Amino acid sequence: MEITQKSRNAIGMPLVGFGTYQLTNEQAELSVIEALKAGYRHIDSAEGYRNEEGTGKGMKAAGIAREEIFVTTKLFPGFQQWGSPEKNYDQTIETLKKQLTQLQLDHVDLYLINAPLAVLRLEQWGALEELKKMGLTKHIGVSNYNEVTIKEIIDAGLTKPEANQIEFHPICAQIDLTRYMKENAIVPIAYSSLAPLSTWRNEVGQGGEVLAEIKKECQLVTKEIADKLNVSEARLLLRWGLQHGYSVLSKSGKPERIRENFNVFNFEIPVGDMERLNGLNQNQPIAWSANGINPMEAAPPLR
Ligand SMILES: NC(=O)c1ccc[n+]([C@@H]2O[C@H](COP(=O)([O-])OP(=O)(O)OC[C@H]3O[C@@H](n4cnc5c(N)ncnc54)[C@H](OP(=O)(O)O)[C@@H]3O)[C@@H](O)[C@H]2O)c1
Repeated sequence: MEITQKSRNAIGMPLVGFGTYQLTNEQAELSVIEALKAGYRHIDSAEGYRNEEGTGKGMKAAGIAREEIFVTTKLFPGFQQWGSPEKNYDQTIETLKKQLTQLQLDHVDLYLINAPLAVLRLEQWGALEELKKMGLTKHIGVSNYNEVTIKEIIDAGLTKPEANQIEFHPICAQIDLTRYMKENAIVPIAYSSLAPLSTWRNEVGQGGEVLAEIKKECQLVTKEIADKLNVSEARLLLRWGLQHGYSVLSKSGKPERIRENFNVFNFEIPVGDMERLNGLNQNQPIAWSANGINPMEAAPPLR
């Protein structure tokens, strides 16, 4: 697929999105305005980010027609290991309704289960099917699901998820899962594309110091290739995800970085450099490591 500012994937999602994790409500409002000003038309939100009011205000204040923006949000499913009660069918329906109020929207474009953390995940998926029928979301999908947890849904006779949002960068290249999603026409969305950078979540309390050591080799290679192509390492990493057929997300609270991260359409990573970046894979997820779990492996057995 050609990669331009206007190109969209199979569910109509613009390929470059703005993520809102680790922003306060006030930061989310300002950053979403900046992102929409810079040209992003895809916003990624979640119940768990606790800032949907700010995200909603930002989208409203930017004055861009609703149908031009693709909005994703996610259900936090609950997680017994953290003492967070699992949501049942009705609670899942009510959660999106509450989120829509905070976002000041009458529907989202994509609703995801944030991770397969609940025993009740098939019941939650049934509720997502109903939310789609109700018109409260145009598309439904999952996040942090592996082949096993996707197959559980299909084997239960439920509809196949339309998309799966997963951690995807050269250190965590998810090769088998990417192939499986492609074969099954499940739209791939990459999160934490910038996790290999030394600047990733490097403010106190953001958790970026966990696993920082394992990134050293990757940083040497990304710097060398980025310098050669005369782009920043952030742009290189985002472009790598795009050239693998993913939609990519990035988050920043800084206007200049928000603009920089959208500037990924006017260069291409040559095949040889793509291969060097592919060679850095360690099958190592990083994004949730400060929480002490790998969400893709944390699914409790179904009852
Ligand atoms: N489904 C899931 O489980 C899941 C998990 C994680 C993330 N996500 C989604 O994916 C989005 C992106 O992932 P992410 O938040 O992990 O982070 P990311 O976009 O990969 O990286 C953000 C971090 O990198 C820094 N940064 C951003 N642009 C930069 C640049 N151009 N140069 C240098 N440093 C830069 C940011 O700092 P500043 O803010 O200080 O600029 C921040 O610390 C999230 O916001 C969220 O919407 C989903």
